Amino acid sequence: MKASILCFRAAVLLVLAGMLWGIVMGISQNHSTMPAHAHLNLLGWVSLFLFGIYYHLHPAVDRSRLASLQVWIWIAGTIVMTIGVGLVHSGHEIGDPIAAASSLLVLADTLLFGWLVFRPEPAELASRSSVPAE
Ligand code: HEM
Ligand code: HEM
Repeated sequence: MKASILCFRAAVLLVLAGMLWGIVMGISQNHSTMPAHAHLNLLGWVSLFLFGIYYHLHPAVDRSRLASLQVWIWIAGTIVMTIGVGLVHSGHEIGDPIAAASSLLVLADTLLFGWLVFRPEPAELASRSSVPAE
């Protein structure tokens, strides 16, 4: 599956979860886990959707395994970070190391995305290595 398709599908599933979380917060009038809801939506909906647009605009990167890996790590990092932050804000200290580790994972994955953005694109690499026609 192309990385962009994976981004858009996962983003839709995560925003549905984030919205349900928001609705539950509203109904219960308990907003204590708001940062977990906010980051589920911001990492899982906004950021993933933006990654998807970038990949769609760069078809050679979109088809690469590294791009799919970047998206899968992001999805896993977002889910674990949401759980960790949710636990912290509902008074469970065990959430602290979970939130910390997943934040670092998300940071590392952003560096991986940065590498995909800054490196020459696969098509460009291929044309550089081919012998120019006489
Ligand atoms: C059905 C949809 C949604 C509902 C019912 C909902 C509900 C809520 C509620 C009750 C809060 C707590 C507000 C407070 O205590 O001040 C909140 C905060 C927040 N929500 Fe949502 N939300 C929804 C969708 C979204 C989406 C799609 C995003 C992001 C794209 C989002 C981003 C945020 C952010 C960033 C905050 C924190 C705002 C702040 O710092 O004050 N929410 N939401
Ligand atoms: C490794 C990634 C990230 C970490 C560790 C992180 C951490 C935090 C922390 C500690 C807060 C304060 C929460 C509180 O007051 O209890 C916060 C708030 C906020 N962050 Fe992030 N953040 C990350 C990524 C992002 C991204 C990518 C966005 C936007 C796309 C974002 C948007 C916000 C917003 C809007 C708030 C205020 C709403 C809230 O209090 O939850 N963050 N973040």
